[in-house]
Amino acid sequence: MDGISGKVALATGAGSGIGRATALRFAEAGATVAVADLDEEGGEETVRLVSEAGGEAEFFAVDVSDEESVKALVDDVVSTFGGLDVAFNNAGIEGTPGPITDQSFEDWKRVVDVNLGGVFLCTKHEIPALRERGGGAIVNTASIAGLVGAADLSPYYASKHGVVGLTKSVAVEVADDGIRVNAVCPGVVDTPMVSRFTGGDDAAMEGIVAPQAMKRAADPSEIAAAVVWLCSDEASFVTGVPMPVDGGYVA
Ligand code: NAI
Repeated sequence: MDGISGKVALATGAGSGIGRATALRFAEAGATVAVADLDEEGGEETVRLVSEAGGEAEFFAVDVSDEESVKALVDDVVSTFGGLDVAFNNAGIEGTPGPITDQSFEDWKRVVDVNLGGVFLCTKHEIPALRERGGGAIVNTASIAGLVGAADLSPYYASKHGVVGLTKSVAVEVADDGIRVNAVCPGVVDTPMVSRFTGGDDAAMEGIVAPQAMKRAADPSEIAAAVVWLCSDEASFVTGVPMPVDGGYVA
């Protein structure tokens, strides 16, 4: 893909699901990939899969909800690979399903700290590194949960709406630096997060894909394709966009 080959790409939450599929796709497009995750085992497995496919990747441990950890991540990536060109801020957690009257403030803070705070901290520390290179691209993982409402997962939905707002405002702020900032808004994707939600139950899966025009879950690679395109020079006039990749959920 035009404008990815030879670049340094950082992906958080790359030890599983959408992040892993995107790390593989970045490498396939010729980027060197920094695989960042809280889960070392999952991250190292992604590095192994990238290497097996002939790509170059290294694992970096990070907790995206901790500023010192995020700052150290960006510094380590820059010193290891000589700079940073594109970043996929994707790490996220689902929280505990239930009505707002049953939601604890502790759970709210945990979900918002990781899903929104993590994107804030990563963006804050990536931008100086991207400016050093004269520009770059950031893609944040929001969700259809950042575009519409639904019952029983209010901290998650609020956090993802926050990611959309953060993406739009930072896109305006850094456009003059040659940095594009977009969000991807996946529908239901077949990953461990969704398996935890459905408990592997086919009827539960049918229920959550029912609002999508295409009544199936996406393969993580279908989200990765959109992310890598948004990061590439082929999307050179696209910024501030929360892009649904949702099988027609919001159609
Ligand atoms: P997943 O659970 O398979 O992967 C999430 C990864 O994030 C894991 O490797 C986990 O260790 C990592 N992570 C969690 N907390 C972290 C932290 N504090 N610091 C660093 N890494 C951390 O989930 P999936 O489905 O791949 O989700 C990726 C993103 O996509 C999330 O932001 C999620 O909210 C979003 N999303 C997922 C959808 C789906 O249907 N699977 C739909 C829409 C959005």
